[in-house]
Amino acid sequence: MDLGIAGKTALVCGASKGLGYGSALALAQEGVNVVIVARGAEALQEAAARLEAARSGNAFVKAVAADITTEEGRAAVFAVHKDYDIVVTNAGGPPPGDFRDWDREAWIRAVDANMLTPIALIQATVDGMAARGFGRIVNITSSAVKAPIDILGLSNGARSGLTGFVAGVARSGLAAQGVTINNLLPGAFDTDRLRNTALGTAKKTGQSVEAIQEARKKNIPARRFGTAEEFGAICAFLCSVHAGYMTGQNVLADGGAYPGTY
Ligand SMILES: NC(=O)c1ccc[n+]([C@@H]2O[C@H](COP(=O)([O-])OP(=O)(O)OC[C@H]3O[C@@H](n4cnc5c(N)ncnc54)[C@H](OP(=O)(O)O)[C@@H]3O)[C@@H](O)[C@H]2O)c1
Repeated sequence: MDLGIAGKTALVCGASKGLGYGSALALAQEGVNVVIVARGAEALQEAAARLEAARSGNAFVKAVAADITTEEGRAAVFAVHKDYDIVVTNAGGPPPGDFRDWDREAWIRAVDANMLTPIALIQATVDGMAARGFGRIVNITSSAVKAPIDILGLSNGARSGLTGFVAGVARSGLAAQGVTINNLLPGAFDTDRLRNTALGTAKKTGQSVEAIQEARKKNIPARRFGTAEEFGAICAFLCSVHAGYMTGQNVLADGGAYPGTY
């Protein structure tokens, strides 16, 4: 299927690896120009080189080493390109822990990264998209928005704030001007973040990383973790011309792990 977005320009945040990279790859393979962002410059340059090799047609790949949760970081991505047609928001998730230990600073960091940063990127781009008659925002959030995970309270809380904001703004006048805003909710995907979380549990419990991961897979109807490529393909579809009638949605990709009917 031709996604109909070749020649558009996308900003993909948190894209040196994992789900952000998978999304940038799927878009570049569709001939979309991609500007990728992450803090670590070396991994980012390596990712950009892989995208260059995989891109379709004349699509360009640009890399901006910056912290997207800061005003300076966001200024850097808009200095490279101003009029994005597609924005994939993403940053590292907040750390797990016990809610009794989280002070105001911990909450501000989580809300800043996982709620206020996507909102700032939406604010900065949607009016230009609307004026040009096409725009796609995809926020990478988490299955924890639908089924909270107790040790990820910072994520449950901050991402739910973003979800509520998106539900309203997606249904504002933007929908009639060709701009869609959706959230893509990963369950368990085989990325560094998932491996590091398993490593943390292994250190605490004395179990092996493999045993922890196998136990987790047993609770997923698909009996496996998702891949970044699968995630990227769903993201690219949400960014496509074919998804123009889909907005304000929370799209779950979790191998069937969420147990509810709706
Ligand atoms: N993987 C899963 O199973 C899963 C499940 C549920 C939710 N999620 C959520 O999905 C998102 C992506 O997860 P992932 O598994 O792809 O993580 P990952 O493999 O750790 O990759 C995170 C990417 O984001 C970049 N990044 C982190 N903080 C950033 C910042 N402040 N500014 C710019 N770039 C930043 C990282 O590079 P630098 O560190 O160099 O900046 C890296 O490129 C996270 O919010 C995570 O919580 C993931």
